[in-house]
Amino acid sequence: RGVAGAGCDLAGRHVVVSAGGTREPLDPVRFLGNRSSGKQGYALARTAAARGARVTLVSANSALPEPAGVDLVRVGSARELREAVTEAAADADAVVMAAAVADFRPASYADGKIKKKDGQDPEPLALVRNPDILAGLSADRPRAGQVVVGFAAETDDVLAHGRAKLAAKGCDLLVVNEVGESKTFGAEENEAVVLGADGSETAVPHGPKEALAETVWDLVARRFPGQG
Ligand code: CTP
Ligand code: CA
Repeated sequence: RGVAGAGCDLAGRHVVVSAGGTREPLDPVRFLGNRSSGKQGYALARTAAARGARVTLVSANSALPEPAGVDLVRVGSARELREAVTEAAADADAVVMAAAVADFRPASYADGKIKKKDGQDPEPLALVRNPDILAGLSADRPRAGQVVVGFAAETDDVLAHGRAKLAAKGCDLLVVNEVGESKTFGAEENEAVVLGADGSETAVPHGPKEALAETVWDLVARRFPGQG
C-alpha cells in the first residue's frame, strides 16, 4: 500500500488497464510479437481492485491467471487492443496503457499458411505502422478530466527520452523504466521514474511491481477532478 493509498480511495471509479504484448498476425500460424509478460499491468489491475475501483483489464496474450474481481477482456493484435480500450474508456476515470503495443504490423495477412519454395530466398517482410493508441486516447478524451497514463521502456538517456515521449503522447503521467538484457521483461521487480505533464518526477525504488502500481494509483488519484 502506498503512503497516500490508504483504504478504498478508488471506490466509485472505473479504471482501464491494458497489459501484455500484442501479436500481429502474418498467417494463420505465425505472428510478430514481443516479450511482455503482462505482470506490471496485472499488478496495476489487482491493486486498483483492492483500492475499490471497478477495473477493466484489457489483456493482450498474457499467460497470467485471471485476477479476481476485474473485468477481463482478451485481445490479440494492436488494432483489437485499441478497439477494446476505446470502448472501455468511454466511461472511465483513468486509462493506464501498460501493454507493449507493436509499432508495426505485417502489411498483409495471408489467409493460408505461407510456404517456402525450393531454392528460393524468402520475400522481405513488408510492415506498416499501427495506430498510436496512447496518443489517440490522450488527444480525444471521452470524459473531461480523464487521467491517461503511459509506460515507456528506454535505454541510454532514459529521462530525456521519457520527457520527450510524455510531451509527444500528450498523456498526464509516463512511467519510465530502464531496460537492459535481463531488466523488466518477465521480471518480478521493477524500478522506474514516473514523469508528470505538470513537471513532477517521482522515483520508485527497485521493488515489486505491486509497489510501482500503488504509486501509479496514488499519482492518478491525486489528478482526479476535485482532488487536492
Ligand atoms: N503505445 C500505444 N500504441 C502504440 C505504441 C505504443 O498506445 N502503437 C503506448 C504503450 O502502451 C506505452 C506508450 O505508448 O504506454 C509508450 O510506448 P513506447 O513503445 O515506449 O512508445 P513509442 O511511441 O512506440 O516509441 P518507440 O519508438 O521508442 O517505441
Ligand atoms: Ca514502441
